[in-house]
Amino acid sequence: METTIHSLPPGVATKRRVLAQVVVCSGCCCGRTDKGRPAIPLDWLKRTWKEKRLLKHVQLTISGCLGPCDIVNVVSIVTKHGDRWFGGITTEEPFTWLVEWAEATAALGEPDDLPAGLLPYEFQRFAE
Ligand code: FES
Repeated sequence: METTIHSLPPGVATKRRVLAQVVVCSGCCCGRTDKGRPAIPLDWLKRTWKEKRLLKHVQLTISGCLGPCDIVNVVSIVTKHGDRWFGGITTEEPFTWLVEWAEATAALGEPDDLPAGLLPYEFQRFAE
């Protein structure tokens, strides 16, 4: 029997389509102040996302280890344009930019340009 691994089963679709997904690492290292790492304002981020009703537009996911633990406090932003990776975030300000970006994205109905302040934190996740 021949197996086709590149095709999706027919009819697979989600009703929970979003404009973007923000994945904030909260694994073995990121945000672990007990290990001397900078804090991540997770409670504030989750509460703010909920208060601003962003979830149905921009999914916020708090994840386990995303892999690049040598770069503290990793965030990945996934949109229809691809994924972008950020890390080395040692202050809370970039997380406020994420909220502002998610609000702008929700208002626009498409992924807004990423905040300029976030760009210096961007890194290449995958080998070329
Ligand atoms: S704990 Fe965040 S990358 Fe490993």
